[in-house]
Amino acid sequence: MSEDWVRQLDARQRAMLAEMGVKVWAPKARATVAADVPAAVVSAPVPLPEGASARPTAAPTTAALSREPISEPISTPASTPMRAPAPAPAQGPARAPAHERPDRADIATLDWPALREAVAACQACGLCASRRNTVFGVGHTQADWMIIGEAPGEQEDRQGEPFVGAAGQLLDAMLRACGRARSNEEAGRSAYIANVLKCRPPANRNPAPEEVLQCEPYLARQVALVRPKLIIAMGRFAVQSLLKTTEPIGRLRGRVHRYEGVPVIVTYHPAYLLRTPIDKAKAWADLCLAMDQ
Ligand code: URA
Repeated sequence: MSEDWVRQLDARQRAMLAEMGVKVWAPKARATVAADVPAAVVSAPVPLPEGASARPTAAPTTAALSREPISEPISTPASTPMRAPAPAPAQGPARAPAHERPDRADIATLDWPALREAVAACQACGLCASRRNTVFGVGHTQADWMIIGEAPGEQEDRQGEPFVGAAGQLLDAMLRACGRARSNEEAGRSAYIANVLKCRPPANRNPAPEEVLQCEPYLARQVALVRPKLIIAMGRFAVQSLLKTTEPIGRLRGRVHRYEGVPVIVTYHPAYLLRTPIDKAKAWADLCLAMDQ
């Protein structure tokens, strides 16, 4: 990213970056900029997006997060909690009859209304027992960008829409910084947002491999229907599901991957960024890479 580019940022974009928690400046000497941060972007753990509750940068309580799935970085030393501490009861994946979902091949033929209906009726894993709503996806169905997150949290489960909690507010700010919005009518200025899982895992736990497996055909069909020009995979589970790798996000970001021929940019999950604002500068660099595609 050149310093010229930084000078061209207008007041609105600067305000958006500030909202994201990224301070933009043209440094006098490149040597002062950390090696892994784009030359002209330096992080500042500044304001949370409007409406998001202020949180300590140390691991927040589960109550404070009310299940914002947080999954990265998987390179984090084992001693560092990767997610908000989950409440004690370990609710593993409950069993459900595996046939209670159309075949993968059938799902691959569904149009939008039929796909939405199939998700709403899905009983392929135990998450159907505890969900309030399925969380299908939102945004322009022909959007250039597709954002893929992890799984619904409490707010999403209540409202049936992805990313409506604090992490969602940060995601919206990130999109605005790129001149996009989930609700924009113009495909080139919008994003379609979906999760790997369409149902909320209870007790703030990680998606189980079986749940990811059962849900994958829905996401695959969403991607096929949107036909985005670019996918942004946010967080460990999105990355693992799309790219079939357990490589840490830190090693995958900064280059372009492919899913079914679609370019994929890997970045941190917004819920992780809320806890670790120092990494917002890296997320901004990832968004810049996305905008360059
Ligand atoms: N985190 C996600 O990954 N998805 C949501 O919808 C909400 C929070």
